[in-house]
Amino acid sequence: MSYSRLRSNADYTNAYAQSVAEPEAFWAAQAERFTWRRKWDHVLQWDFNAPQVEWFKGGRLNITENCLDRHLASRGDKTAILWEPNDPGEEAQRISYRELHARVCRFANVLEHNGAKKGDRVCIYMPMIPDLAVAVLACARIGAIHSVVFAGFSAQSIADRIQDADAAFVITTDGMARGAKKVAVKAIVDEALRTCPGVKRVMVVRHTGEEVDMQAGRDVWLHDELKQVDADRPAEEMASEDPLFILYTSGSTGKPKGVVHTCGGYMVYTDYTFRNVFQYEEQDVFWCTADVGWVTGHSYIIYGPLLAGATSLMFEGIPTYPDAGRFWQVIDKHGVNIFYTAPTAIRSLMAQGLDFVRPCSLSSLKVIGSVGEPINEEAWHWYKEHIGKDRCPIVDTWWQTETGGILISSLAGITDEKPSYAAWPMPGVQPVLLTPEGKEIMENEVEGLLAIKFPWPSIIRTTWGDHERCRQTYFSSYKGYYFTGDGARRDAEGRYRIIGRVDDVINVSGHRFGTAEIENAINESEWVVESAVVGYPHDIKGQGIYAYVIAEKPVTDPDQARSEILATVTKMIGPIAKPDKIQFVSGLPKTRSGKIMRRILRKVAENELNSLGDTTTLLDPAVVDEIKAGRV
Ligand code: PRX
Repeated sequence: MSYSRLRSNADYTNAYAQSVAEPEAFWAAQAERFTWRRKWDHVLQWDFNAPQVEWFKGGRLNITENCLDRHLASRGDKTAILWEPNDPGEEAQRISYRELHARVCRFANVLEHNGAKKGDRVCIYMPMIPDLAVAVLACARIGAIHSVVFAGFSAQSIADRIQDADAAFVITTDGMARGAKKVAVKAIVDEALRTCPGVKRVMVVRHTGEEVDMQAGRDVWLHDELKQVDADRPAEEMASEDPLFILYTSGSTGKPKGVVHTCGGYMVYTDYTFRNVFQYEEQDVFWCTADVGWVTGHSYIIYGPLLAGATSLMFEGIPTYPDAGRFWQVIDKHGVNIFYTAPTAIRSLMAQGLDFVRPCSLSSLKVIGSVGEPINEEAWHWYKEHIGKDRCPIVDTWWQTETGGILISSLAGITDEKPSYAAWPMPGVQPVLLTPEGKEIMENEVEGLLAIKFPWPSIIRTTWGDHERCRQTYFSSYKGYYFTGDGARRDAEGRYRIIGRVDDVINVSGHRFGTAEIENAINESEWVVESAVVGYPHDIKGQGIYAYVIAEKPVTDPDQARSEILATVTKMIGPIAKPDKIQFVSGLPKTRSGKIMRRILRKVAENELNSLGDTTTLLDPAVVDEIKAGRV
């Protein structure tokens, strides 16, 4: 058995057993599905202490050959990307595998014509339009390393990411439309590039048609460039372990890090999980509502679905435009069969009431999924009943930017589901729960720190330009394990429930921010002396951001001071990182050694004022009373 497609609970159990007993044989069988220019010499070589993980070493391939060329004979006319625009009055686009192949080849030639080559870093800052998928695949076609930056990030964030990756190329658009809002995308890029002298070329896709400044010698229009290139571009041959992309994500330290994924393992794993978790069938229309700027969009809008030869719906807009029924209308309009979204979206649409759901039939749906943060039971049941109509299995998929693909989830309709539990590890994934001292907890019905003790094919390989940081962040806390940063519970039967982060990472609407990252941004305001940021439970966003700020002088106009802070955070990171609550304080609870006692700040933010614990070791215990009294 290759266990390539799991169709029953017994298949899952057997596949899982084989994947643990003979991981190399298991993954080699999955890898056989693909087009390799050269087969691998070794399936897996690894050492978590280095860390060094290599899958399919010696193998040569190109992921776009597997996403595109491989399908042309049998699926050339099938829709690869089904694009739904922001404006429902505008026509949707269906791009066939053949057409996507041609567009990717042409774009790849444009990249090359402009000097980009294998190994170069290309920063992509674009709205959710087909050219974004084309740009990503065009980079992969020539072996350039894409670094997609979510188009909600600020100019400063783009600049930081371009500089860190030393990207000489940028792909962007003139503007973008999100709901009723228009955003001048190119102008944001221009601002970022003021501090990025290393950028040689900016390729601009005309999308909204608005006026933009084009810097002679640096900026070119894609449509002009396309006229000058051939329609074909054979895929560059890559080694399995050549980098495919960098994606920046936040951790407990101030600066986001560039998570690096490589070609071979990422390909095998995203395809495997896509087909099995969602129980994808050839005719299905699959819709993942994430943005390509996050890992979910990389793995389950672009690579996973295209590797499987699926039709992947890409949506430009937002769930509430023109009204809060848009998701449900789009599902009916395109006959979506598999729908994959985030708990924050479910909760916010749930809050809008059923009037937006009722007019839609949703009868095409077969499977519904959730990703990005814990889904609370209320939202789970609402999703199950009102969207899944009590007939669609829910897959609650737990994974991370660093894991590349889904690690824990039930398989739709195959393995059982349980509200608020991501449930079962994927074949090849060996989760463990650890005590804070690093001891494996063997029993069930326990909570612990979630770690993984064996590599899976799409595990993070390094953090760009700083391998030591990768080692320290993920492989040094508990020797011999990949540490996830999450806490989890295992129930009596062995299902996993993710409780949330145990480090200084806040998950806001499924987006990760480091507390230090937001503090650094707040501290950019001249009059801010110090700040401390914590997360607190938020009905819609999952977690909200609570900032305690010490100002130079007593704050006389708190509203004005708050808006200044919000503006600074928007400028430094982007509007998604704006604190929900800001409290001005005269001091922070610190130990005698100067460490901020975040536990106390968290309790105050959560309004758990009676369970602050021991405060006697603080340098100045009185500050706690002030903070409690001033809670916002
Ligand atoms: O805390 C977990 C949470 O999101 C974190 C990873 O965030 P990011 O790298 O941005 O990737 C998000 C999309 C894969 C995890 O450490 N998380 C993700 N999925 C779930 C989740 N928490 C609970 N349940 C999930 N299904």
